[in-house]
Amino acid sequence: MKILVTGGAGFIGSNFIFYMLDQHPDYDIVCLDALTYAGNLETLEHVMDNDNFKFIKGDIRDRDFIFDLFKKENFDMVVNFAAESHVDRSIKDPGVFLETNILGTQVLMAACREYGIKRFHQVSTDEVYGDLPLDKPDLMFTEETSITTSSPYSASKASADLLVEAYHRTFNLPVTISRCSNNYGPYQFPEKLIPLMISKALAEEELPVYGKGENVRDWLYVKDHCEAIDLILHKGQQGEVYNIGGHNERSNLEVVKTILNELDKPESLITFVEDRAGHDLRYAIDPTKISEELDWEPTILFDQGIKKTIKWYLDNEEWWQNILSGEYQDYYQKMYGDKQGDKR
Ligand code: NAD
Ligand code: TYD
Repeated sequence: MKILVTGGAGFIGSNFIFYMLDQHPDYDIVCLDALTYAGNLETLEHVMDNDNFKFIKGDIRDRDFIFDLFKKENFDMVVNFAAESHVDRSIKDPGVFLETNILGTQVLMAACREYGIKRFHQVSTDEVYGDLPLDKPDLMFTEETSITTSSPYSASKASADLLVEAYHRTFNLPVTISRCSNNYGPYQFPEKLIPLMISKALAEEELPVYGKGENVRDWLYVKDHCEAIDLILHKGQQGEVYNIGGHNERSNLEVVKTILNELDKPESLITFVEDRAGHDLRYAIDPTKISEELDWEPTILFDQGIKKTIKWYLDNEEWWQNILSGEYQDYYQKMYGDKQGDKR
């Protein structure tokens, strides 16, 4: 089995690569990543020399490059993590979100059609369902919830999902889609809530909480997400959507206070700042379908997972300090310049 993992130098993609190499040592894993600001080769350093792993620098928007790659490599499956993923950036500059998240996905599916594939899996998000009110805790997103997006990021992910469904219906492409809640864990880029707050708390800088901090997210430890995708690839039904999440809802303020408490830092570091435009109030996943059909259950509760995550950031300070200092970007410039292709 040869699997192409796009966006594998980012947070979830890299964790997925580690998971798959561990669970399926007989599989070949090829990581394709454009190494944008969010991609980090240092993350993949410890698997770079594995015989069944290969890293390729390349852009999913580049049709010629992608078609050449598919022709050469003969992939069995594609798992598409590659995306612009940060809501705040999508509010500042939406264009690249449409290019990568929608058009890039289309290029990959066109290559899948041309060269044949057993499965194209689209890694999507619960944000395509819009948001839920704060005062109705029983409401949750199911796979039947209508698509109603709030940010350019979620609109681009929803557009890609529709396109994936269209490729299934029109061209019979064997696709699956997963829509997961907010992930946290090792190797998350320190612009997202949890790693940002950990790094700021350690530096004893102000922790910027949007609005009143009452927005709610449903947190999933990244390894549980990886396991769910592995199950969908092997046991999921073509053409189906699977929600992934595990009833671990917390308000942003609760998350930030937990981090401060774990690090023994004062709550006076919390600073309420201007709210995010269009800020989604609450996300909550109903995981009944994946639980009943594929026997998936989250294994790590938030209270455990946040401790593990904080420990990881304490033990791996060099990884995120290099990002904050921008050193890793200089390194790529030296390694690749603007070239695409295999490093070895
Ligand atoms: P990330 O930003 O950490 O990683 C994205 C990766 O994609 C980076 O390595 C980047 O270099 C690469 N990339 C960006 N544009 C590219 C392009 N044009 N060609 C090739 N590679 C490109 O994101 P993440 O948090 O790991 O998210 C991965 C996927 O999971 C995304 O599709 C995201 O929408 C989805 N998702 C994320 C979460 C979450 O909480 N982080 C939750 C649900 C779904
Ligand atoms: P984020 O990690 O950007 O994920 P998403 O927007 O995809 O849910 O943000 C998580 C929540 O934390 C969201 O409600 C916005 C909030 N937030 C802050 O309050 N301050 C911050 O500095 C950031 C980055 C996020």
